[in-house]
Amino acid sequence: MFNYYMPVDIHFGFGAISKVGEIARRFGFKGLIVCGNSAKRLGYLDKVVSNLVINNIRDIIVFDEIEPNPTDIAVNKGALIASSNQVDFIIGLGGGSVLDAAKAIAIVSSNEGFAWEYVNYPEGPKSIPYYTRPVIAIPTTAGTGSEVNKYSVLSNPNRKEKIAIAHSLNYPKVAIVDPELTMSMDKDLTATTGIDAFYHALESYTNKLENKIAEDFAVKAIKIIFDWLLIAYHEPQNKEARLNMSYAAMIAGIAIDQKRAGLIHSMEHTVSGRFPKIAHAKGLSALGYYITLFNIKKAPQKYQRLAEELGLKDEHELLNKLKELTIALSLPRSLKDLGLAQDEDIINDLAEDVHFTARGVFNINPADITEEDVRNIYKTSLFEDESLMYG
Ligand SMILES: [Fe+2]
Repeated sequence: MFNYYMPVDIHFGFGAISKVGEIARRFGFKGLIVCGNSAKRLGYLDKVVSNLVINNIRDIIVFDEIEPNPTDIAVNKGALIASSNQVDFIIGLGGGSVLDAAKAIAIVSSNEGFAWEYVNYPEGPKSIPYYTRPVIAIPTTAGTGSEVNKYSVLSNPNRKEKIAIAHSLNYPKVAIVDPELTMSMDKDLTATTGIDAFYHALESYTNKLENKIAEDFAVKAIKIIFDWLLIAYHEPQNKEARLNMSYAAMIAGIAIDQKRAGLIHSMEHTVSGRFPKIAHAKGLSALGYYITLFNIKKAPQKYQRLAEELGLKDEHELLNKLKELTIALSLPRSLKDLGLAQDEDIINDLAEDVHFTARGVFNINPADITEEDVRNIYKTSLFEDESLMYG
């Protein structure tokens, strides 16, 4: 049995950005645009503002202080701007960090308290939102899926934790997915965001939760990523590749929305929670192969079924394709590649963080897993030694 709820109005395709003003007018005439540096630098902010102005929306505030791995502090600051100016809507224009922040700013600005009260510890959030300002999410990368899901992953630098807000009020009202905005991504950003989408699809398909629609989306997303990510990586101006990757990222985002992600994401969040300079997808890439290897050895069934749906020989071919793709994209293959010190204390801290902030994920991992296993997987990746995987 499964339930499917996806309340986002999606506008997809080249040129979709030109609808922003017409769409924003549904919500009012005063807006906050949340973005980072790149949206300004690449001219996307000007493009959005001029389209709003053409549609008579002239009261526009820009909050451009969102950095990768967005913090609760930045969200609280943005929320204060939104609430004190009583904006009618919020536009998130950027990559995953910006979209996550824009959604969280909408939640916090419309309710009481601070951002960190709304994140999902295993015991649940401290506060539950009861209203949110409408958000228009405009991705400028192809990977996050945040434009179509209920998650906002936030970092708390004081607690060195990274946890998501996950609530049905945290969906954007509208997603404007225009692949044109992804055409200026450099190779590294194309690779990292694309592999993030891959892990969304892989984890949502293989975890123990049930949702047929999400699994169908996940299979399709993986097929597209295997076919098109390397082309987008080598040929940044290839419009067909960019269109396909925007679509794959979006449907993989729906897949995690319906079925959650899994252990790779949880184990990564503790890494970039403690080491905020590490990009989310690079952490995923450093851990993903080993965690998938662990799961395939202990509980291969879901991976066998996925391989079959993808038209591959078996789960080992799937793992091999992942390895080849990671190498071809020049992505890190281990925590050692990321430059983490080979230190037992780091391993213990990371494993404890997973237990404290995300132990719920143990229940949905395809294979039975313990805190000791998590420690061993971190160790395996840190020392690049598969013999350490099973203790
Ligand atoms: Fe992700």
